[in-house]
Amino acid sequence: MKSINNAYAGLSGNYLFSEVARRVSAFKARRPETEVISLGIGDVSQPLAPAVISALHKAVDEMARPETFRGYGPEQGYAFLREAILRHDFLPRGVNVSAEEIFISDGAKSDIGNFQELFGEDAVVALTDPVYPVYEDSNAMSGRAGTFRNGRWSRLVYLPCTRANGFQPELPETRPDVIYLCSPNNPTGTVLDRESLTSWVNYARQQECLILFDAAYESFLRDDSLPHSIYEIPGADEVAVEFRSLSKTAGFTGLRCGYAVVPEKISARTADGRTLKLHDMWLRRQCTKYNGCPYIVQRAAEAVFLPETRQQLDAALSVYRKNADLMLDAFRRMGLSAFGGVHSPYVWLQTPENMPSWSFFDLMLEKAAVVCTPGVGFGASGEGYARFTAFNSPENTVKALERLEKAL
Ligand code: MLT
Repeated sequence: MKSINNAYAGLSGNYLFSEVARRVSAFKARRPETEVISLGIGDVSQPLAPAVISALHKAVDEMARPETFRGYGPEQGYAFLREAILRHDFLPRGVNVSAEEIFISDGAKSDIGNFQELFGEDAVVALTDPVYPVYEDSNAMSGRAGTFRNGRWSRLVYLPCTRANGFQPELPETRPDVIYLCSPNNPTGTVLDRESLTSWVNYARQQECLILFDAAYESFLRDDSLPHSIYEIPGADEVAVEFRSLSKTAGFTGLRCGYAVVPEKISARTADGRTLKLHDMWLRRQCTKYNGCPYIVQRAAEAVFLPETRQQLDAALSVYRKNADLMLDAFRRMGLSAFGGVHSPYVWLQTPENMPSWSFFDLMLEKAAVVCTPGVGFGASGEGYARFTAFNSPENTVKALERLEKAL
């Protein structure tokens, strides 16, 4: 076949976490006797909560009887789950979205990767640097990013998040159509507080931009006054789509469930001047290309939002929080500069003596058999940094930190 999407040919190398996995596999093949500890990809280690397991069993049994068997479900998710999310995640925080604005999916990664399909090829996209690579790569795959040179795409607007600005993105100098924001941030672990999020919402309203707000890590916020949802900011429902995930909140990285909130109020204009609702476009897209998250997974997800499950989920979250505290303490003891990790499972480490990220990654793998994620993999401004996740078990985290301390 000769006619392909040429944008794929312009992509640079592998997807970040596939490249990390490739290097780790090569290392394991060379040193099969060495136990490798991963503080790399943000994959959870604590098992699913007992309430989630019971809900799964119950739903599986329902599938075994003709009177309770379920086939195709609604593409946007079952009402029982959308309403549970509304009651748990939004109403208590004074957020007035409706269940019809919530779309259940197999995870935030797919939603975030797919959502850009709704934008024109000429839409100007702004993203932070460093950034979760899915935002950048999915726009590049659609031919919206231009050409890749010296670590940056020519048509994307980058908002550098560096030590000098406290890893806080500043408002763009030129108006983009779409802005990706993530708080608590992957990879820097820093947070947008109410004031800064308000300035983004106000900017988007004034400039008629759309914000794609990734809140996958909101359950790691330790200070309840920080916004968990962008809709806590007045007017955000006119300009922002929010993505949430059960992966890190409830250990669903393998089970897969997330959701997007697409408010009815957000409209977009077509080239010939007509107005379309983004909500209706997303519904059309999902109905055409997606058959919904499996019924048994949605029942398991429903259990996540029951008040009695909270304690079980908190047990896993507190393991990760303690791991993050241990990492911050250990890195500071080693005389290194480490950021994030307080409201986030990610610690953003400045490499010693400004060592390039991939050299640091290789060194840690060789000398300590510990996997991190090289900061430059998240963007040019991540050079000289590495990301460590708090998602491994406490035992492995302690062991990895001891090895790192020795190696450094
Ligand atoms: C990460 O490590 O950044 C995440 O686990 C990747 C993801 O959620 O897809």
